[in-house]
Amino acid sequence: MEKKLNVLLSDLIVFYHKLQNFHWYVSGLNFFQVHGQLEEMYNGILPQIDSIGELILMINGKPVSNMKQFLENAEIEESEGEFQNDVKKIFEVLKEDYKHLLNKAEEIKADADDKNDYLVSANMDELIGSYSKVIWMISQASK
Ligand SMILES: [Fe+2]
Repeated sequence: MEKKLNVLLSDLIVFYHKLQNFHWYVSGLNFFQVHGQLEEMYNGILPQIDSIGELILMINGKPVSNMKQFLENAEIEESEGEFQNDVKKIFEVLKEDYKHLLNKAEEIKADADDKNDYLVSANMDELIGSYSKVIWMISQASK
């Protein structure tokens, strides 16, 4: 459980920076809208990072806490620092990352439920709700 939560924590750190990377490097006619949307997304990830770190402490584990460890544990791929005006592509990449986070949260919830670990399970419920909503919104925008 602790290991899986640390992978999720590391994924969230990488994903936070990936969203900010796209926020900085998005270009083109849709800049204003997408730039703002990406900021909203990374601001949504920030409190989740803190919650998962503290959840690991609450179950008497040790959250990974430096960049070297985050990169060693993360499964989400970092993005290049290149200007990108293909908004559809940006959201395709992000949708896959949100799906990855959703799968991780569901996996952890299933483990927690097996062990009657209500605290971890409840924390995963929040993430599952949040990622499902973003995935749905990106899908709507891509139609
Ligand atoms: Fe900004």
